Order: sequence, then structure tokens, then C-alpha cells
Amino acid sequence: MLKKLFTNFRKPTGFTGRLLVGMMNWAHGPGIRAVVGQLAVTPDDIVLDIGCGGGAAIALMAGKGTKVHGVDHSVVSVEKSLAKNRVAVRNGRVAIQVADALRLPFSGETFTLVTAFETIYFWENIQECFRRIHGVLRLGGRFAIALEGWKGENGEINCPKVFVDNLPITLYSEGELRESLLTAGFDSVSSLKGPSRKWLCVAAFKGRQNTPGK
Ligand SMILES: C[S@@+](CC[C@H](N)C(=O)[O-])C[C@H]1O[C@@H](n2cnc3c(N)ncnc32)[C@H](O)[C@@H]1O
Repeated sequence: MLKKLFTNFRKPTGFTGRLLVGMMNWAHGPGIRAVVGQLAVTPDDIVLDIGCGGGAAIALMAGKGTKVHGVDHSVVSVEKSLAKNRVAVRNGRVAIQVADALRLPFSGETFTLVTAFETIYFWENIQECFRRIHGVLRLGGRFAIALEGWKGENGEINCPKVFVDNLPITLYSEGELRESLLTAGFDSVSSLKGPSRKWLCVAAFKGRQNTPGK
């Protein structure tokens, strides 16, 4: 029963899934705002938000006049994101579709920024996902990750036990993420400041890093 409920965090479905993505927009807001604030997002950026959930990050970045694409493997999440961003979708600033992080429906160096909020711990084959994200980023582009579930460098778990016990979730340490991102082809990785010590936030850069956000 509990496991079935928690499955909705990994892939929201049905009524419970719709309720949860609405709550996530609210619960993850501080992390999303903190990270987007440090990325110096401008109207010239072209952004991809992976695992977009209820669309809060898309709305924040599209509100800066930026063109934003969103993908999520859950139909419920995509529907919720489309509803939250309906005006920006109508005027062509936002596009959202169902897709898995491992099979991104984009080719070539398309984006200046890729974001992943509270989602990578659910991804299969994270190394290959990172390699593909590197592939769709333009030179000078950045990939930002924000997590409330992560591992300390000594293996301590920074995630409520109820999630670890009831979800297929893989927690990474900052060091492990850094190593995977560099192996995937990124040139450098920086820590970003989260809204509290509960968050682990990093940005990886393709090419030369000018500012934390560019
Ligand atoms: C905990 S929610 C976070 C949603 C949103 N990013 C936020 O911060 O509010 C995780 C989201 O990632 C999506 N997700 C999980 N694994 C995914 C994958 N492999 N590819 C695409 N989306 C995925 C889920 O469907 C869900 O909408």
C-alpha cells in the first residue's frame, strides 16, 4: 500500500499522482528558486527541464522570457506541467512532452541549460543519461542538478528513511556525481548553494565556465 503510494513520486499516475505533482510544485519551490537564481537565466537561454513534474521550474524560467522545453516520463506530470504553463505553451515559449531521461527526443547541441530538480535519483543508467545530456548541450552550456535525497561523502543518508524504504531510489554523493559528470564529458563541476543544508545542488559545464550560471 505504502509502496504503491510512493511509486507516484517516481512516476505519478492517476488521482494520487495528480495530487502529488501539485504538492511538489509547492514543496520543491525553494530549491528550484535557489538554483535558478544562481544560473543567471536570460531570455537568450534555451532550456530543457528533465523530470519536470508539475512544471514549477518551467514556469519560473519561462517567466524570465526564456524558451523552455520540458520532458517527463509520466503522462500525469506532463499534463500538469502543460496546464500550469498553458499561456506560455500557447504563445510558443514552452513545449512539454512525454520522454525518458535516457531517450531524450532531441538531437544535436540544442540547449544552453539543462535542469533536473528532484529527479536523477530515479533515473536508470545515470552515466548514459549524463552523456546524452552533454550531447544536447551547446558549448558553454550548463547542466544543473538539485536534490533533497543524497549521500554524504562518508555514506550517510540525507533522505527521509520512508523514501529509501519504499522507493527504487539511488542516492549519490557530491563526489560520485562530480565523477560521473566528468566521465560523461563535462569540463568542470561546481557546487551551487541550496536553500538549506537539506539540498545538494551542483552545476556541470560544457566548455569554459565563466560564471556559476554561464
Ligand atoms: C519528485 S518529482 C520532481 C518533479 C519536479 N522536477 C519538481 O522538482 O517538482 C520526479 C519527477 O521526475 C520524473 N521522472 C522520474 N524518472 C524519470 C525519467 N527516467 N525520465 C523522465 N522523467 C522522470 C517523474 O515522473 C516525476 O515527475
